Amino acid sequence: MTIFAIESSCDETSAAVVIDGRKVLSNIVASQIEKHKIYGGVVPEIASREHIAAISGVAREALSQAGVTMEDIDAVAVTAWPGLIGALLVGVNFAKGLALSYQKPLIPVHHIRGHVAANYIAFPELKPPFLALVVSGGHTNIIEVRDYTDYNVLGQTRDDAAGECFDKVARVMGLQYPGGVQIGKLAEKGDDKKYHFPSPSVDGEPLNFSFSGLKTAAINLLHNADQKSEVIDKESFSASFNRAVADSLVERLILAAEKTGYKAIVLAGGVSANTMLRDELKSECDRRKMTLYMPPLPLCGDNAAMIGSQGYYEYLSGNTAGMALNAKASKELAI
Ligand code: KG4
Ligand code: ZN
Repeated sequence: MTIFAIESSCDETSAAVVIDGRKVLSNIVASQIEKHKIYGGVVPEIASREHIAAISGVAREALSQAGVTMEDIDAVAVTAWPGLIGALLVGVNFAKGLALSYQKPLIPVHHIRGHVAANYIAFPELKPPFLALVVSGGHTNIIEVRDYTDYNVLGQTRDDAAGECFDKVARVMGLQYPGGVQIGKLAEKGDDKKYHFPSPSVDGEPLNFSFSGLKTAAINLLHNADQKSEVIDKESFSASFNRAVADSLVERLILAAEKTGYKAIVLAGGVSANTMLRDELKSECDRRKMTLYMPPLPLCGDNAAMIGSQGYYEYLSGNTAGMALNAKASKELAI
């Protein structure tokens, strides 16, 4: 089955052609980062306008690079939730137009389910059940993936997502958006024991996170140093901060694996590009003889190929929509 997929939930306009959920014929990603950089974060209205301008060209390019036309497409998949509402609406409406004019089934896809599916593309042998950690700009979830469309959330953040925490701290450090990437780079050259941060734990909830305390502690440390005219060693600050985030993610994921008995572990979402997180998780999984799956870097961030992959499994589960499909800014993963 050949699926044409669209992703526009945040600041990437993307279209892809994916066969049977696993084989990617094309995956075009047009990033808006340059447009948002000067504001230090994604400006929702600018994101929507950029999607509107880019989507036709990106869609055309995805078809052409795949060497197919809409006649060869069996269904249209689109990220319908969660995300920036104005941004989502652009992709959803475009997908509806395509599905209507070419008389193709329309498949709404949950963005986080899509991130997990990025691993189906990279690892043909990977099948549920497994345990997944999804870390992005908007989500931090430990998920039991019982089947392709059956999820059980075991742990999540009570406030900020891990990516958001990276980005907000990076902004106070004077780094460019998206800050997670910059902190990750600086961290590679720093001493991860130089600065101390509180653990993002929640009392009595061992699998949940609270990143706002860690974020505030990091920002306070920067402000205090600034007031006293002390120079912060940005590389070691980044390394220590990155280590605090990575430790907390890895600790809870391993705890969840030990509690549930899963030996197959999947990492996903934009923050899964983080070197320290990848290395730490790899060594902890190796020590316990757990098999770790991590997307290659181009599939960590937002892209339509992952939506095309998950879209295939949604279609097999009968999860299609009619022309009344509407985007939603938030939506539970499990429903
Ligand atoms: O999944 P994603 O592309 O978009 C959302 O669905 O939110 O994730 C974006 C997030 C941003 O917060 C960005 O700073 C973070 O992923 N990120 C990273 C790295 N690359 C992207 N965080 C830490 N280290 C990285 N290398
Ligand atoms: Zn994402």
